[in-house]
Amino acid sequence: METKSKARLALIGCGGIGSYHLGHFLGFTDIIDMVGFCDLIPERAQAFSEKAGCGAVYTDYKKMLDETNPDMVFVCIPPYCHGEVEYELIKRKIHFFVEKPLSLDIEQAKDILLKSEAAGIVTASGFQCRYSNLVEPNIEYIKANKIFFVSCERMGGIPMVEWWRNKELSGGQAVEQTIHQFDIIRYVFGEPDTVFSMNTTGLIDNPPEGYKTDDLSVTCVKFKNGAVGTISTGCYVEGGDAYDSKVVFSSSKSRAELKILGTLKIFGETAVKKDAEDKGEGGFVVKGDGGIGAGSGNSTVYKQVGDAGILCDLTFIEAAIKGDPTLVRSPYRDALRSLAFTLACNQSMESGLPVRIDDLLKGI
Ligand SMILES: NC(=O)c1ccc[n+]([C@@H]2O[C@H](COP(=O)([O-])OP(=O)(O)OC[C@H]3O[C@@H](n4cnc5c(N)ncnc54)[C@H](O)[C@@H]3O)[C@@H](O)[C@H]2O)c1
Repeated sequence: METKSKARLALIGCGGIGSYHLGHFLGFTDIIDMVGFCDLIPERAQAFSEKAGCGAVYTDYKKMLDETNPDMVFVCIPPYCHGEVEYELIKRKIHFFVEKPLSLDIEQAKDILLKSEAAGIVTASGFQCRYSNLVEPNIEYIKANKIFFVSCERMGGIPMVEWWRNKELSGGQAVEQTIHQFDIIRYVFGEPDTVFSMNTTGLIDNPPEGYKTDDLSVTCVKFKNGAVGTISTGCYVEGGDAYDSKVVFSSSKSRAELKILGTLKIFGETAVKKDAEDKGEGGFVVKGDGGIGAGSGNSTVYKQVGDAGILCDLTFIEAAIKGDPTLVRSPYRDALRSLAFTLACNQSMESGLPVRIDDLLKGI
């Protein structure tokens, strides 16, 4: 009987998000062998290997690449650590999945893009929200309605990882975290033309040690299709009802409110899906791969079904196995545009002037 060989997968950066990916890999063992785990902190790589029940442990990623010869690598290192690792993977023609944000240096990211494309490898980035079942009805709504205004808010607390609190290391909240919202707005709605951002800091009482980032930033966006929007993001929230995270696409008679990986609510009579039906149990009815509930107040509610993160990782792995980059919803080239969108906000905060996104994308 013919035995099909499995793809060899390694991971660099055994921290928070690495652990999320590892959890997914455990379900893919019919198609992958986890051959190596690398972290500068050896106990972290060791813990991953123990959880996987396989995989050699390293603190030096070059040694891991030499000894384990992977077909693909997940790069799960903090924003300020990018560059060297990607260049090494490109040199060896190894497919890679790299966590967002790709880099804090747009010129470095552009160089990595061009070199990875020249090497013909498959790349992907960690924008798992693109794989949500909420994306399709959101795009459908946007196609059927003229959108005037996009408003986005992401208000949360200060994450525990130390580097996050230093904007020089993390890029700040827009670049490091709210980039998911910037990215999904691009994916379902369209490309931004210009941003004008303002930030504030010093308002948080007793911030944790090493805190050197914005408490809040607010960005005005002019889109290429003529709409305007605002994207606000803050880390001043201490709990309770102050948490908020949503993107609202508004037309003249209705609006769609997306809570990424949560719900998509479409408000307005004309926006209500004709085939939505109330089946009792709170008006919730599952159809296809999504949940649709028709409430009494002229709204249609879609609920997140399944795990977009699993789909995101599996899609990259299958694309790398087949050598088919077109399967990936967020290849390096596209993720770079979301990076530019957020880095343009930082440039605007620093200069006090509007910034055109295309100015950051010159040369690619
Ligand atoms: N897609 C998502 O939803 C999502 C969620 C959380 C974090 N992230 C992203 O993932 C990245 C990492 O975040 P995290 O929270 O896991 O950080 P973390 O600090 O928990 O883990 C990063 C790990 O990388 C290791 N590391 C750094 N440089 C290395 C190198 N050269 N070789 C080997 N190991 C190295 C560190 O020792 C650390 O253990 C960030 O860019 C973050 O934005 C994405």
